[in-house]
Amino acid sequence: MAEKKIQPAPPQGIELKCVDDIVKFIQSKKLRVVVETGVAFGVSTNAILGAIPDDGLLVSIENNPYTLNSLLVLPKYYKKWLFVYGDSADVLSNVVKLVGSIDLFWHDGLHRATAMKQEYETALPHSRFIGSHDINHPGAGTVWNDFVEEHNMEVLLRRSKWAFARNPDWKPSK
Ligand SMILES: C[S@@+](CC[C@H](N)C(=O)[O-])C[C@H]1O[C@@H](n2cnc3c(N)ncnc32)[C@H](O)[C@@H]1O
Repeated sequence: MAEKKIQPAPPQGIELKCVDDIVKFIQSKKLRVVVETGVAFGVSTNAILGAIPDDGLLVSIENNPYTLNSLLVLPKYYKKWLFVYGDSADVLSNVVKLVGSIDLFWHDGLHRATAMKQEYETALPHSRFIGSHDINHPGAGTVWNDFVEEHNMEVLLRRSKWAFARNPDWKPSK
């Protein structure tokens, strides 16, 4: 039988400053339940898992199986981590319904305006805060600004490439 050829994952990543902001955001607001799209090698995943409490939950969605070969996620975090393999366009709506009440939805998957808008809108009814990487990506257009304006969201932190905003309609019981 021919040996299966494993393709290397493309180099992807996230700035350490952004990781620092995510961790501080989660810790300062004492967030427990996080959903993220875009795992790559797990830099944000590992950081989020380290920032949430032991009874917290992180659900991570990724559609590139080859990134799994190089995942950085520490085994000690597995008990509070659920990895969902799939295209967020297909799986995110079920994930947010199953999780129910999300403290932070973090986008770092497909940086295309339509995909970003779909993710933000899908997560919003279930999420207290929405955060996004690559808000200034060439493919993103003005999607982040339009989204926060349309939903009257308070932007709590904004850097050139990423931001966090509060959902004004979020209710804890959802
Ligand atoms: C910028 S990287 C994520 C970086 C990661 N958060 C980190 O801390 O290093 C984007 C990731 O999103 C994944 N991705 C792209 N489109 C996606 C989609 N439609 N659904 C799920 N994951 C997607 C890519 O395979 C890639 O691993």
